[in-house]
Amino acid sequence: MQNVAVKKDDVAQTPLVEVQDLTVHFDGGRAGFWGQTKLVVHAVDKVSFNIFPGETLGLVGESGSGKSTTGRAILKRVPIAGGRIAFKGQDITHIPEDGLRPLRRHMQLVFQDPYASLNPRMRIVDIVAEPLVVHGVVRSTRDAVDHVAELLQRVGLPPDAGSRYPHAFSGGQRQRVGIARALALNPEFIIADEPVSALDVSIRAQVVNLMQDLQNQFGLTYLFIAHDLAVVRHISHRIAIMYAGKIVEIANRDAIYEAPVHPYTEALLSAVPVPDPHIQKQRQRITYAGDAPNPLEPPAGCRFQSRCPLVTSDCRHKEPPLSKRRDDHLAACWHK
Ligand SMILES: Nc1ncnc2c1ncn2[C@@H]1O[C@H](COP(=O)(O)OP(=O)(O)OP(=O)(O)O)[C@@H](O)[C@H]1O
Ligand SMILES: [Mg+2]
Repeated sequence: MQNVAVKKDDVAQTPLVEVQDLTVHFDGGRAGFWGQTKLVVHAVDKVSFNIFPGETLGLVGESGSGKSTTGRAILKRVPIAGGRIAFKGQDITHIPEDGLRPLRRHMQLVFQDPYASLNPRMRIVDIVAEPLVVHGVVRSTRDAVDHVAELLQRVGLPPDAGSRYPHAFSGGQRQRVGIARALALNPEFIIADEPVSALDVSIRAQVVNLMQDLQNQFGLTYLFIAHDLAVVRHISHRIAIMYAGKIVEIANRDAIYEAPVHPYTEALLSAVPVPDPHIQKQRQRITYAGDAPNPLEPPAGCRFQSRCPLVTSDCRHKEPPLSKRRDDHLAACWHK
């Protein structure tokens, strides 16, 4: 495993989720005059990390870098081309659907868009109770009314919320409904796929704080996906940076913000606003020209080569391994 264990009380814990060399390919259509060449989208390429119980791993990278695909692969919602996924020590990579069903209860997803993910024709109580009905925990919403009321209260919604429909709520409130639904089955692990990206900046912190409170109350473990480093700062214990299907850096939160290694991490960090206006004024936003690589034809060598100011011939030919820099700090770069 490339990833060093987080030590709590000096005891290395067993990871809740283990991802090793995970590779996901999608069908990219066909090319050539006769359509003779099958194209493959290299969405996720040999990605490895662990997530420990009670921890939040932030997964950050730009659009198309493979964050959602990584999350969906852990939930086994996309076909896995290579590598291994384990949950609580059990290898689930090739487990069939009926074997997966009992595990699915313990792993839930919070979606990016609370407008699109809640059925507008269902009452909130039915939406939140739905996973309980689907998993056969209750026969109908009626049997879950008290449980749903308690969940709605826990996520900070008014007591009468259950009888109303999604249109009666703001984006932030809808995301609270999405979180209540994810909690309904009392899961251990939640993948939050850009849970605040669709919300007003002013209410993002409230939803992130709620998720943090719930983590402490219920001992939840999170994979928290975002496309910038500002959102994940307070909630993450560790952060993995993804670029073009690869993890390019992974470290404890403070190490990522205070001593980033990879040039791509530095660029992401330069976009994070600093509260002190004087420092903010002096800060230089790093933008690297050049296009991200084509996922149908990832280049040999480093995936960041087309945008990197440090690029040399090595970078074009040899892939930099994700290697240890300091304790618990891994990065993939030939020059740093
Ligand atoms: N079902 C699919 N079929 C074909 N290609 C796909 C499919 N899903 C994702 N991809 C491709 O896989 C790559 C990774 O996509 P993914 O959605 O995981 O990125 P992401 O990091 O979550 O981006 P975003 O920030 O936009 O959500 C992209 O090139 C995307 O176009
Ligand atoms: Mg995504």
